[in-house]
Amino acid sequence: MATERGDVSSANQTRSYLIMKAEAKEALELAEEWWTQKTVPDYIHVEQFNSSEVEEFVSLYNRCFLASPDPFCPLTVEQALQLDPEGIFIVRMWGKLSGFIACFVEKQEDAIYGEITGIGVLPSRRRRGVATALIKRATEFFLQSGVEEVYIEVFEENIPSQMLIQAYGFIQVGQRSIPLQTSGAPEENAELPGGKIMRRFGLRPRVGCETCRDI
Ligand SMILES: CC(C)(COP(=O)(O)OP(=O)(O)OC[C@H]1O[C@@H](n2cnc3c(N)ncnc32)[C@H](O)[C@@H]1OP(=O)(O)O)[C@@H](O)C(=O)NCCC(=O)NCCS
Repeated sequence: MATERGDVSSANQTRSYLIMKAEAKEALELAEEWWTQKTVPDYIHVEQFNSSEVEEFVSLYNRCFLASPDPFCPLTVEQALQLDPEGIFIVRMWGKLSGFIACFVEKQEDAIYGEITGIGVLPSRRRRGVATALIKRATEFFLQSGVEEVYIEVFEENIPSQMLIQAYGFIQVGQRSIPLQTSGAPEENAELPGGKIMRRFGLRPRVGCETCRDI
C-alpha cells in the first residue's frame, strides 16, 4: 500500500507533511482557555532550555519521537548543541525533563513568522496538558518576538499531533512531500514556510535509509 512506511517497492512513494498555520494570538487564547477549565498542576514547570542539560534534552527528544508515528532520526548531542536555546522550552516534572517545544523566528525581507519545529512529551506524561503548557509558552514567546503567524508541519499519519494543534487554531494551508528515494532533492514548497527540527541540520532521506524512520 502506498501509504505504508517501509514499503519501498515504488520509487514514486513519498512521505507527506501537512503545513499548518495559526494566528499566534488565537493559539495563546485557546491554550489559556484549556487551562481555565482545569487546575494547572503545580508540578508542571515550563522553563527555557539550558544547554548545560543537553544530554537529558537529547534523551527526552529521542524518547518522545520513538513513541510517535513521525519519521524520525535520532538527535545527537552534537546536533542539539547547534540549536539556539532561546526558542526552546522544556517542561520539568518532579525534577525530570518531560516535554519540549522548539520555536524559530524567521525574519524575511517583508515578513516575520514563527515556526514550531518540534514538540514532544514523554509517553508516560501525555494527556495532562504538558503540550498545551508548552504551546502557551511558545505563543507568548512568538508574540514577544513580533510574530503574528505561526507554522508547524505535521506528519500526515500523526493523528494525535494533528488533534493537538487543531485544538489551538492551526489549519492546513499546504502540504509538503518528501520522496522516499533520494534521486532528487526533496520537493520544497517555496511559498509556504515550515520545517522540522532535523531538517534544520540539512538531514535528508539517504540512499539505503529508505526503510528506517529517518526524516
Ligand atoms: C502530540 C503530543 C505532543 C501531545 O502532548 P500532550 O501533552 O499529551 O497534549 P495535551 O495533554 O496538552 O493535549 C491537549 C489537547 O490536545 C488533544 N490531544 C492531544 N493528544 C491527543 C491524542 N492522542 N488523541 C486525541 N487528542 C489529543 C486533545 O484535545 C487534548 O485535550 P484533552 O486532553 O482535554 O482532550 C504527544 O502525544 C507527543 O509527544 N507525541 C509524540 C511526538 C510527536 O508526535 N510530536 C509532534 C510532532 S509535530
